[in-house]
Amino acid sequence: MKTEILKMELNDVDKEKLRFAAEVLRGGGLVAFPTETVYGLGADALNENAVKKIFEAKGRPSDNPLIVHITGKEWADSLTASVPPAAEILMDRFWPGPLTLVLQKSDKVPGAITAGLSTVGLRAPAHPVALALIREAGIPIAAPSANISGRPSPTTPKHVIDDLYGKVDVIIDGGCSKVGVESTVLDVTVTPPMILRPGGVSYEQLLDVLGDVAIDPSLLKKSSENFVPKAPGMKYKHYSPKADVIVVEGETEKVVRKINSLIEEYKKSNTSVGVLSTDQTKMLYGDVPVISLGDRLKPETIAANLFKAFRDFDDIGIEVILAEAINNQGIGLAVMNRMKKAAGYNIIKV
Ligand code: TXA
Ligand code: MG
Repeated sequence: MKTEILKMELNDVDKEKLRFAAEVLRGGGLVAFPTETVYGLGADALNENAVKKIFEAKGRPSDNPLIVHITGKEWADSLTASVPPAAEILMDRFWPGPLTLVLQKSDKVPGAITAGLSTVGLRAPAHPVALALIREAGIPIAAPSANISGRPSPTTPKHVIDDLYGKVDVIIDGGCSKVGVESTVLDVTVTPPMILRPGGVSYEQLLDVLGDVAIDPSLLKKSSENFVPKAPGMKYKHYSPKADVIVVEGETEKVVRKINSLIEEYKKSNTSVGVLSTDQTKMLYGDVPVISLGDRLKPETIAANLFKAFRDFDDIGIEVILAEAINNQGIGLAVMNRMKKAAGYNIIKV
């Protein structure tokens, strides 16, 4: 398939390119586009055939439902059976933004989107190109992250091109994604609402608005114990670089010492090792490739760089990534969820 790459400026979205991409979507084609969290792979959410193409291009299991992207709450009525008051409050507070609300679906939403579930995930992305594209197309856009299934979500146009060039009609280049981890998936069909996937909107932010928020117990597990997550997508080994990932958790000084001793061990077996560190610790490691994810005290910076770092280590052929854990607060909960999943829950506590 011929893939058209369209570069778009954030503050001056090219009308002609936008019209072209919107036309492709309306015609049942696939368009990868930037959002504030990660790049999405879009298709007309109301066209079952178009939606099927998404699953094919990504190699995605068909039991994993897709998020429907809209411009705002004006779409909620036609796509859902009912909007509980809590959902309305959350839309007003966090949309457009990195929050996906799981609601009872209306008959309009095809089963191919929801993997046969009676619910649908809705989100209005806070990205000028994404919003302009959905508005121009005039239809809701189904969009999973624009990566091959199982790989880290794409946060740069290069990541999308690496995974999907030749498999989709259009890739829109809108620069790097700011948030860097995917949206928070919140089930608002239950009371209190339950976080199914931690993401760009934090538990603390939701608690502040709702007063009570549950977290899917499978997210709090400390090892690969058998909890079945409620968001179907969360059960797959995800976000993983080709390298093995080991997370080291504990007091920072001890973590650094442990990682250095692991580096020495791996050297003996000629295994190539890379370290995922933070600005505070990046100079403390021996003679191996080290990527700093950002400031330990600003988890937003770490979230923004995590998936790119996984891919950068793959590009230089690293076999084992030793990753420092960070604090679970704020967006740190999403960072640690992605890191632990990438590690297959291979966590060393010191
Ligand atoms: O930030 C994001 O959410 C990105 C951008 C492109 O918007 N999209 C994204 O989509 O991460 P995807 O398909 O990679 O992840 C969607 C997650 C999966 O874990 C899926 O199982 C869950 O949301 N999900 C979608 N609809 C659901 C539903 N009705 N009930 C429960 N979980 C749902
Ligand atoms: Mg994904």
